Amino acid sequence: MATLDDQFYQPAEQFFPAHSGVALTYDDVTLATLYSEVIPRDANLDTQLHERLQLRLPIISADMDTVTESPMAIAMARAGGLGLIHCNMPERQQLSEVTRVKNNVHGLIQEPIKVSPGQLIGGVLAMIDDRRFGFSTFPVVDEKNILLGLLPGHVVRERYATRKVSEAMMPRAQVQTIHERDLGQEPIVAADKFFSAHMGIHKLLVVGDGDTLRGLFTLSDIEHILHERGSHFKPARDDQFRLLCGASIIGLRKPDGTLDRDHIAAQVGALVERGCDVIAVSTAHGHSAGVGDTVRLVRGIFPELPIIAGNVTSAAGVEFLAGCGANVIKVGQGPGSICTTRVVAGVGIPQLTALYLASRAAAKCGVTIIADGGITKSGDIVKALTLSESVICGGLLAGCPEAPGQIMEINGKLYKQYRGMGSQAAMAAGSAARYGHAAKDATRKAAAEGIEALKEVSPSVELVLAQLTGGVQSGLGYLGTKNLGELRKAARFIRVTPAGQRESAPHDIIEVKATK
Ligand code: XMP
Repeated sequence: MATLDDQFYQPAEQFFPAHSGVALTYDDVTLATLYSEVIPRDANLDTQLHERLQLRLPIISADMDTVTESPMAIAMARAGGLGLIHCNMPERQQLSEVTRVKNNVHGLIQEPIKVSPGQLIGGVLAMIDDRRFGFSTFPVVDEKNILLGLLPGHVVRERYATRKVSEAMMPRAQVQTIHERDLGQEPIVAADKFFSAHMGIHKLLVVGDGDTLRGLFTLSDIEHILHERGSHFKPARDDQFRLLCGASIIGLRKPDGTLDRDHIAAQVGALVERGCDVIAVSTAHGHSAGVGDTVRLVRGIFPELPIIAGNVTSAAGVEFLAGCGANVIKVGQGPGSICTTRVVAGVGIPQLTALYLASRAAAKCGVTIIADGGITKSGDIVKALTLSESVICGGLLAGCPEAPGQIMEINGKLYKQYRGMGSQAAMAAGSAARYGHAAKDATRKAAAEGIEALKEVSPSVELVLAQLTGGVQSGLGYLGTKNLGELRKAARFIRVTPAGQRESAPHDIIEVKATK
């Protein structure tokens, strides 16, 4: 039987259709509290965007050139979220950015760099210089990958340049190894035990049958991983224990206007080869022939690759992109803090209504959705997660030290640049296609749909995410929900008036310290 509360606090299924004539966003509604036995810090924020994209934190950093390059993507994945490396840079550079994330901290390095016994030390030095390795100890193998020894860093010196690796290496009998079958279910624990038992040894080689080299553990990686285990956040990793990383692409066209299929296939192929876990086809208008063609093309060549595509704000948009082969759909047109799409083009839908429509279509199509843009506080994230699997943040992260760009000082305060990808400057730097303009038009005819702005410098990503996570966990606690699945089912909405909004923020006080 319906209770008195039920008449006022309604589930999404009732609430949004009852408000079908009006477009609502985060501040237009509030969530009702519900009976709870959940202590906020116990609330679990794991989310699954795709079977190969399990996040421990439902927050993704935006693929914008003032937000996500490798330092941001590393910080996001280490906190359990995901970074989408932007594509407003040469493709080779984007590949290196992805490599930096995927190589960040290894558990077992499965493809260690090896040397052969006949090589000269001078050749090894040249390789280190050429490939900018930060290490100089290498396993020595023969042409069948059988372990012959270890070349220790202290002999890799210019003075020994004319000596052969075979003269300088530590012979096989003295090299510490473990057979892969002895690693068991917990390879990190096995490696940790080994390093404790063998004082002064920093490298452990893993061998398979026939003494073939199968991998390498380093002491510093193991210590790093163990430190992470004790930390507040659990990193988001792939099945090889590498940090998760995404990258965005744009469906490049030939001069005759058709998709450059070979180029797109090569670009995505190279990203996948570097270990990129998901690609995002990010545009301002995802419910369009061009985006559909790009997604179909990528899906055709890479049947298993998780694809994020967008942006849309309708059920039809979600169905379209899901039909083209996207797994995860980005929802948001014009909510971003630097967006002017609604002002310039007069289109776009406030986020909660867009998310409701998208979420219902997504459930039918078997895809997930991300709430992209307009998040200004942790309460917005809780509201967004009642209808989506994750959020994308740009502005909230753009002031962090891990975001690209220089810090500048104005009147004693420190700022970093933050600009829309549809701003004149970002389009001139390459992002015009995202907004459907030709590169040559970027600075002449194209109407900018974003602005260039500054963000006050903020603390590290870890600290910003710790604040946001605490807020989101409080939200789950107030609703008596232990995880995001329960949150989506339990959420009850009610509209607030402008007076209610005023009441919701600090009021009638003199603020001495702003809440960030
Ligand atoms: P926040 O609010 O987190 O939003 O700063 C980040 C999201 O904004 C989108 N974006 C744009 N939208 N014009 C737009 O209309 C732009 O120039 C622009 N640049 C970024 C994008 O979806 C991002 O994730």
